[in-house]
Amino acid sequence: MPRDQNLRDYIPGGILSLTEPSIQRPSAQSIEDIIAAASAELESIQDLAALDQWRVLYLGRRGALTMVLRGLASIEVSERKAVGALANQAKTTLEDRLKERVRQVNEESLKISENRDRLDVTLPGRPALKGSLHPTTQIVREICDAFVAMGFGVVEGPEVEWDHYNFEMLNIPKGHPARDMWNTLWVDYDDPEKEKAMLLRTHTSPMQARVMESREPPIRVVVPGKCYRYEATDATHEWHFYQVEGLAVGEGITFADLKGTLYEFARRMFGEERKIRFRCDYFPFVEPGVDMSIDCFACQGDGDGCRICRDSGWIEIMGAGMIHPRVLEGVGYDVEKYTGFAFGMGPERIAMLKYGIDDIRHFYANDLRFLRQF
Ligand code: DAH
Repeated sequence: MPRDQNLRDYIPGGILSLTEPSIQRPSAQSIEDIIAAASAELESIQDLAALDQWRVLYLGRRGALTMVLRGLASIEVSERKAVGALANQAKTTLEDRLKERVRQVNEESLKISENRDRLDVTLPGRPALKGSLHPTTQIVREICDAFVAMGFGVVEGPEVEWDHYNFEMLNIPKGHPARDMWNTLWVDYDDPEKEKAMLLRTHTSPMQARVMESREPPIRVVVPGKCYRYEATDATHEWHFYQVEGLAVGEGITFADLKGTLYEFARRMFGEERKIRFRCDYFPFVEPGVDMSIDCFACQGDGDGCRICRDSGWIEIMGAGMIHPRVLEGVGYDVEKYTGFAFGMGPERIAMLKYGIDDIRHFYANDLRFLRQF
């Protein structure tokens, strides 16, 4: 694109006579005209690039004024001096005006950027978005707090576990039907039968053996943590979920201690008036094993037509039992001296009951509409 074409973008109505500069016959009038046109255009220019174009047009090597000066030779000697002086004066005038305009344009653009960048400290601040703990974290902490208040400590363990701890040490040898209760995510899936197979733990119970191996009774701990199972998911089953395991070992610990401890827990979590119920259940690592229920806090145990307890008046909240002698022997404890109890619960289930959540899949779907309620 020719330069003057460009210029016409900058200067509306730019002087067309200048697009093809030629040596002109100078006169006082033509110099006056150039000054008038140049000055008028100068005032409307707003940026430095256009100012430079302007300089080239009027003061450049082939600019309007330069052409006038070059044309001096063609006029009468008698006029030459006066017109020459006028032209030189015009040059100085235009140069000065250009300098002044450059200064103004710079000043204006500085002002604009200052205004744009200025911080208005009087504007009201944007409210900071406050996050909150995930509902699972909240309920896990609440569960642990209830046991800590009864003298339990809190420990955590690995989520990738040896077959040895997840099954063998819990009295679930290879080929035991209880292995079928948990579809399992093997880490070295090519050969789960091999001696040192690894898996994503299916429950927190392996920490029973790990804790007992690493210390002597008396022991009172709870173990919160993530577990994994190869599940078809539905409203009450997730492939990834939490458990809180509990373990108490010492001299003379009986089933009455188990009942008392879990009763106290139920009252702390679900209210003072809760009743509890134990029924026989089977877990390979406890004997006897039980499932523990609380009377329904929604219908106060009435049952009839209650959605929460499905008409039964009772809600199962965990598995528990007296630690199987084989498990105690496995970690080298003297079974004549020590006894203990263990329990395990799903915090999501506890939260679902407590807050009326109807689908466990809500917990890990990352839907803020759900999460913001907690
Ligand atoms: N680990 C069991 C499960 O995942 C829950 C359980 C039941 C844990 C009884 C225990 C227990 O400690 O005594 O289903």
